[in-house]
Amino acid sequence: MIRSTQKIFGSNNTSSFWNKLKKKPFFSLAPMAEVSDTSLRYMIASIAKPDVTYNEFVSADGISVGNRDKLVQTLCYSEPERPLVAQFFGCKPDNFRVSAAVARELGYDGVDINMGCPSRKVVSPKQASGAALINSPDLAKEIIAATQEGAGHLPVSVKTRIGFDEIEIDRWLPNILEMKPACLTLHLRTKKELSLVPAHWEHEVLDRVLEMRDQISPDTLIVGNGDVESIQDGLLKHQEFGVDGIMVGRAVYGNPWFFDPMFVPEYIPGPLDPTPMQLLLLDQKECAANGGPPVSFKEISVEERFRVFLQHAIINEQIYTYHYKPMIKMNIHFSAYFSPLANLQHTASLKKALAACTTSDEVAIVVNNFLISRNRQPLDYDQIKRDTLYQASPLFLKSCPDLHNIKPASNSPLTTTMHI
Ligand SMILES: Cc1cc2nc3c(=O)[nH]c(=O)nc-3n(C[C@H](O)[C@H](O)[C@H](O)COP(=O)(O)O)c2cc1C
Repeated sequence: MIRSTQKIFGSNNTSSFWNKLKKKPFFSLAPMAEVSDTSLRYMIASIAKPDVTYNEFVSADGISVGNRDKLVQTLCYSEPERPLVAQFFGCKPDNFRVSAAVARELGYDGVDINMGCPSRKVVSPKQASGAALINSPDLAKEIIAATQEGAGHLPVSVKTRIGFDEIEIDRWLPNILEMKPACLTLHLRTKKELSLVPAHWEHEVLDRVLEMRDQISPDTLIVGNGDVESIQDGLLKHQEFGVDGIMVGRAVYGNPWFFDPMFVPEYIPGPLDPTPMQLLLLDQKECAANGGPPVSFKEISVEERFRVFLQHAIINEQIYTYHYKPMIKMNIHFSAYFSPLANLQHTASLKKALAACTTSDEVAIVVNNFLISRNRQPLDYDQIKRDTLYQASPLFLKSCPDLHNIKPASNSPLTTTMHI
């Protein structure tokens, strides 16, 4: 029988950041391997910050016995991301204990255990990690206990799915709740469903989850996850289902503005109609032009969109130079960054040209050629690069030496990230 160590280490810690989240629902940025990486998280933190941020998952085995230095680079973060949670996957309790201690040493605010990844590699009998733990509840409990020990004063949370082949919350979730995690995030699909069906935002599921939580571990926060498209959508789901928090993943692709619903993309006249939010913004602009109240939305102009994209590329290049072809990591964001520009036409060729770039210098040339061809103001790349690095450098953890040691090329003053 495994005893929860939470009395000493876990959710009872009232100084835990989870206890300080007064806002309901709170919004968290989902862990997404190769996506919610250091550069995207930095961009989001500096533009529109969620209430909680998760790092992409890291192998507990790798941290404990493998290429630790490289993985610690994956755990690199910047101060504005706080509260920040490190997520680990694996199946060996001892390695979770070590990994949690590493997260504590690195200054993370919490530790999360991945019990939901459906990837064949992670779930395979050899790894037996991620969603495979849904079928090994005793091991799952051992892992939580070991993580709570290694995490010390840091709160430990769990992210999982609602079943393996079918919905089995009554069999699976009590095991987790008995360990009193500070937070339980539920991706509302089974492992078998991957992301191929709509998430089960259903009373049958969530009413029962909240009932079990109230009975077994009333202090555990419940977060719902899956298919949340906007802040408004998240608020409605909170209202209907009563979860404490909402986690958002894919909707942030190429959209570091996501967590502030007051940001609205500039509407470009063309074949596509404005979205409801763009219509509201157009109305506000017209009213303001006629002496009415000032516009309350923050318009994301085309130039601003490209400037932020360029900043993202610069940070990305600075962080990942030694690990990847840095621009490849930006590919996943291209479509999303530029989808609000569909009316400008020929953005497909822009994306193609960007995909061929290997440096941020090249990205800047492509971006400026595009802006000029659309009679838009080109960007001052040198200034943007100087400001971006100057501003970012002191904010990063020392375990990211490439970023931490950047010296600004000139004594340019600190500028704010947004110029809206
Ligand atoms: C590219 C990608 C990578 C992911 N990596 C992780 C991960 O490292 N850890 C994790 O717990 N979930 C991971 N997930 C799952 C997400 O955290 C989230 O549960 C899922 O995308 C559903 O939320 P959404 O509909 O808001 O995207 C990943 C999802 C995607 C699309």
